This record gives sequence, C-alpha cells and structure tokens, in this order.
Amino acid sequence: MHKDVEKILFTEEQIREAIKAVGAQITADYEGKNPLLVGILKGSVVFMADIMREIKTECSIDFMVAKSYGNEAVSSGNVRILKDLDTDIHGRDVLIIEDILDTARTLAAVKKYLLQKNPSSVKICTLLDKVTADKVSDLKADYKCFDVENQFVVGYGLDYAERYRNLSYIGILKREVYEK
Ligand code: PRP
Repeated sequence: MHKDVEKILFTEEQIREAIKAVGAQITADYEGKNPLLVGILKGSVVFMADIMREIKTECSIDFMVAKSYGNEAVSSGNVRILKDLDTDIHGRDVLIIEDILDTARTLAAVKKYLLQKNPSSVKICTLLDKVTADKVSDLKADYKCFDVENQFVVGYGLDYAERYRNLSYIGILKREVYEK
C-alpha cells in the first residue's frame, strides 16, 4: 500500500468484479445500439479502459475534457469544454464514463451540453458516487459501481494534485497529505 494511503477502500479484485457486473448490464441494455462511450478526462481513463472491455456489444469511444465553475445553478454557460468530441453524436446513444460523481456539477453541465447536439440518448456510468456530497443538481448516475462517503479517495484514475492516479486500488488519502 502507498505510504500516503490510510486505508484501501476497494481492492483491484473488488473493482474488477463490480465493473464486470455493470458491464454486463450495459451490454444487455445497449445490445445492437452501437453506443458511443464518452470518457471525461483525466480521471476516467483507467475506468474507461476496463469498462469498455466488459461491454460485449459493438460500441465506439471518444473523450472530452471539461472544467466547470461556480456554485450557482448549472447551465451550459459555466462549463468550459477544453476538448470536445471528435464524433458527431446526432442520433447516437451516448454513455458518459466518469470516475466520480461528487457535487454533480461537471456531469450536469456536460450532459446538458451534449443534449444540445441532438443525440438519441445521454446516460451516465460512474465508478464512484459520493452519495453524501452536496449535489448542485438532481442528476443521477444510470450505472454505478460503488457508493462512497465524503472521504478523500484516490487511485484507479483519481488524483490529489495529479498524484496517485496510477494506484491499482481505490484508497482513502491520509489527512496529513492534503492538510499540510
Ligand atoms: C473530477 C472528476 C469529475 C469531477 C467530479 O475531475 O474526475 O470529473 O471532478 O466532481 P463534481 O461532481 O463535483 O463536478 P477534475 O476536475 O478533478 O479533473 P480530472 O478528471 O482531470 O481529475
């Protein structure tokens, strides 16, 4: 275990099992629909690589980078798209792949932005849902692997100051690391 990690929350094996189950659900729901999986960089990169291989129906992938600002009600005006999709999503079934749903600010804005492009559907698949966080939107994940409390989680794509993304498990960061 990394010296900055207090406790392992989900092991590599638990993550693998959860992704397998969610992948099977997505496979069944999207059979024959050729969905576009949209990873929101950078946090989703490890999850994306794993979940796409558990989706056993035809699909394609794309990525976005989005930064959102402000505490006010979310509108497409307060998300800045730093990298937009390369794919035309008109009439497509889009499935957003995200590492964590925290306040929901990012995803609410991204979903709203994507809906303006007239896709057939936009749904959300998140690895973690911080259920106790103050949500700025009533947006819910359509698929998720785990609920987490208000803890500082890192690993498996999730960072603190760009570190720890390469840990193969999800851990709780020691308080002294982010409070020093
Ligand atoms: C993190 C995470 C989500 C977002 C969740 O991204 O990957 O995109 O925050 O928080 P929210 O629900 O409160 O909006 P971050 O902006 O840290 O970028 P990263 O993906 O590059 O780590």
